[in-house]
Amino acid sequence: MGGKMAGIQLTLMGETIKQRNLPTTRYQGSKSKIVEWIWENIKDIKFESVLDAFGGTGVVGYFLKTKGKQVFYNDILKSNCYIGTTLIENNDTRLTDDEIDFLLHPHPDINYPTFIQDTFSDIYYTDEENRWLDMIIQNIESELDDFYKKALAYYALFQSCIIKRPYNLFHRKNLYMRTSEVKRSFGNKATWDTPFEKHFLNFVDEANGCVFSNGKHNKSLNLDVFGVEGDFDLVYIDTPYISKSGVGVDYLDFYHFIEGIVNYPNWKDMVDYQSKHRKIKHEKSVWCDKNKIHAAFDQLFKKFQDTAIVVSYRSDGIPSIGELTRLLEKYKNTVKEVRYGEYKYVLSNNNSDECLLIGTG
Ligand SMILES: C[S@@+](CC[C@H](N)C(=O)[O-])C[C@H]1O[C@@H](n2cnc3c(N)ncnc32)[C@H](O)[C@@H]1O
Repeated sequence: MGGKMAGIQLTLMGETIKQRNLPTTRYQGSKSKIVEWIWENIKDIKFESVLDAFGGTGVVGYFLKTKGKQVFYNDILKSNCYIGTTLIENNDTRLTDDEIDFLLHPHPDINYPTFIQDTFSDIYYTDEENRWLDMIIQNIESELDDFYKKALAYYALFQSCIIKRPYNLFHRKNLYMRTSEVKRSFGNKATWDTPFEKHFLNFVDEANGCVFSNGKHNKSLNLDVFGVEGDFDLVYIDTPYISKSGVGVDYLDFYHFIEGIVNYPNWKDMVDYQSKHRKIKHEKSVWCDKNKIHAAFDQLFKKFQDTAIVVSYRSDGIPSIGELTRLLEKYKNTVKEVRYGEYKYVLSNNNSDECLLIGTG
């Protein structure tokens, strides 16, 4: 997710292990391209345990796992928590060939619901693809009792769903962009049209290759950040971004379909049927509200004031870097600002500086 990353070489107890590349599907705000830069700036801080408080793709937490840290991943989306479970919490569980084979075919003794076919016709995927989705979700639920296996299968399914979408998002009813015979100036029709099964197999392979133990007890959490309890030496904070015009990134709006998959039995009650693209109903988050976000940062820094605090931020957001620095200085003795320079975000035309605020002491 979020751009290609080089394979990570790590040394554990004298042994060198070559990790597979992390998945390459794009995710809003992923730090995959700058995770090594983040590491360079925090590696001299003394810390053994870390909370990746807004974990997203898990790329930062996973990288820190490879560095031998005890990692606590957290994200408010249940689907993302499954990603954290697969990359960070899971030390040794992989899907076998037989299990993968079972997932890919219908079975006469399983009763297959048709919720996706009935609800999302002509919105994101073709009828045949929707049928395949209803099938594999039911197979995952029926066949995989082990939670790590289940999370890994869902992880591969999420990546497959995202990579087949124009813009890699679920923000619009736009299947027509794939199917209509028009000249396209962007996107990758070949990837969109590649069968789910092929993507799924690739991503299972990729995820199986990411599983490793760093000898620590790592954990994936699914909480609102204010509900996270525990003692951590360092907290990494990468909140949703509000642009200077006041528009916030609403992750549930962008990835509701993925979140629906992990809530399949209740999905029908979560859908906003007024919306053409059948999004999930929800309240506006403080992290998307320019009138509430300053107070939210203040509350967050206060909550984690006894640990080192590292904030990823963009120079053109709300609050401004100056405002954020002043808030962090209320709780930390030393606040350092580092800029990556013109980091160009996927899916964005704006150039903005990627910054780190590092609060210690
Ligand atoms: C900017 S992204 C994080 C990107 C991540 N660092 C990466 O490299 O992939 C922000 C994440 O915060 C999550 N999030 C939003 N509100 C949250 C909350 N109240 N508590 C915890 N996580 C939240 C979103 O689901 C999203 O995945």
